[in-house]
Amino acid sequence: MSTALALIYLLSTVSFVVGLRLLGHPATANKGNRLAAGGMGLAILSTLFLHELEVPVKIYLLIGGAILLGGIVGALMAVNVKMTKMPELVSLFNGFGGASAALIGLVEFGKGAGDPQTAATITAGVVIGSLTFSGSLVAWGKLDGRVKSTVFIPQRNIINNLVLVGSIVLAVLLALGVVQDPVWIYVLVAAGLLYGILFVLPIGGADMPVVISLLNSMTGIAAAITGVLYSNKLMLIGGILVGSAGLILTFAMCRAMNRTLIAVVFGAFGEEAQAGGEARTVGGTVRKTTASDAAILLNYAKDVVIVPGYGLAVAQAQHVIHELEQLLTERGVVIRYAIHPVAGRMPGHMNVLLAESQVDYGLLVEMDDINPHFPQTDVVLVVGANDVVNPAAHNDPASPIYGMPILEVEHAKNIIVNKRSMNVGYAGIDNELFYNSKTAMLFGDAKAALTDLVAELKKL
Ligand code: TAP
Repeated sequence: MSTALALIYLLSTVSFVVGLRLLGHPATANKGNRLAAGGMGLAILSTLFLHELEVPVKIYLLIGGAILLGGIVGALMAVNVKMTKMPELVSLFNGFGGASAALIGLVEFGKGAGDPQTAATITAGVVIGSLTFSGSLVAWGKLDGRVKSTVFIPQRNIINNLVLVGSIVLAVLLALGVVQDPVWIYVLVAAGLLYGILFVLPIGGADMPVVISLLNSMTGIAAAITGVLYSNKLMLIGGILVGSAGLILTFAMCRAMNRTLIAVVFGAFGEEAQAGGEARTVGGTVRKTTASDAAILLNYAKDVVIVPGYGLAVAQAQHVIHELEQLLTERGVVIRYAIHPVAGRMPGHMNVLLAESQVDYGLLVEMDDINPHFPQTDVVLVVGANDVVNPAAHNDPASPIYGMPILEVEHAKNIIVNKRSMNVGYAGIDNELFYNSKTAMLFGDAKAALTDLVAELKKL
């Protein structure tokens, strides 16, 4: 490798690491993203032009065409995606990463003949890449509502483990050269694809964020394996960074859901709960409120906590909620936002949404810090959140979300819940909070309801 290329790789590595660091805070996340993307762009260009390989012009044209086509499609997808559809896009991109690793393995299969180490690298890339591809496509289908949320597969663990063990045995036989017919590498791809489908199909509900981050990490591992195959240190480092960041996020999400990774992967969401019997039926009287009554309650409160959820993102009500917060602050109300780690549809969804409307980060309080504070809170305003405030997570062992930590808003003195109807949230279950005698339901689209609330508040 030329010195210039080595230096550029070092620069790119630094840009990835610093970029990741900057991604850790909403204020610097954009900068971090641009820095890491710039590093990757530089790495691709320098690999193309500084690698000491004799590359015919035709190949350059093919690569250039592929980059142009992929770049245009990717940019169009990224620019046009709605914020609420971001997890679907992430899933698709994960899947493409996996597919690339599997395709590279297929193309390079012949290289492994007589060299068990190279062959093992190739077969590992093929298995991980193909299962990541199919698993990510299923995850995308679930998030997009095209595939049923939780598909029950009888004896899933036995079937899945048989497919997995079969794939590993075949990969080892291929790596050792015991089986050599190229048709077996296609069988390996098929087995990997099948495992990805079987692995993700039964997982659903609140476990999906964990699965997506796990698949993301597998894409990184597949890329790292390709780096080993091509003895390309930058590809290896990039893959390791994605793989380890994805794993850290996976465990952080598991902690947030109070689930072990084993339970997520081997016990379908809600399966244990179903074994314990039917979830409790929720019912009772629902108390409705109006924007003017809610405005009076908020205006005379000393301490208010806002709980943002997925509905806030759908309604794009982040600006008007900020206006409401500023208005109340001017009137001497102490106001904070309570952030549940899986509120919305992607990690950090609420942080990003509120950052977009310039909400002061200091006002965002994490679940563990805000929970002890709810008994002293005068009013909790829940906007488009449902599962993350569902007390069934604490008091109904038969509920599919039993054990998941929640924002304990039911302890507040007054609760206002804004949503459009009595419909369920992502986990598909009723919420007894809406029937609590302290709860008043402010029905309507979050943007419209909050705009009315702000207007009423201004009249007071
Ligand atoms: P959800 O439980 O999904 O509830 C959102 C509520 O918003 C719905 O009940 C809906 O009720 C309401 N809503 C929808 N559009 C609205 C609008 N325009 N205006 C007002 N309300 C609206 O959301 P959550 O409490 O934020 O919980 C998140 C859930 O998603 C969890 O189960 C979590 O595990 C899961 N999840 C999270 C992630 C990550 S990483 N954050 C990823 C995938 C899944 P109406 O229809 O009655 O309006």
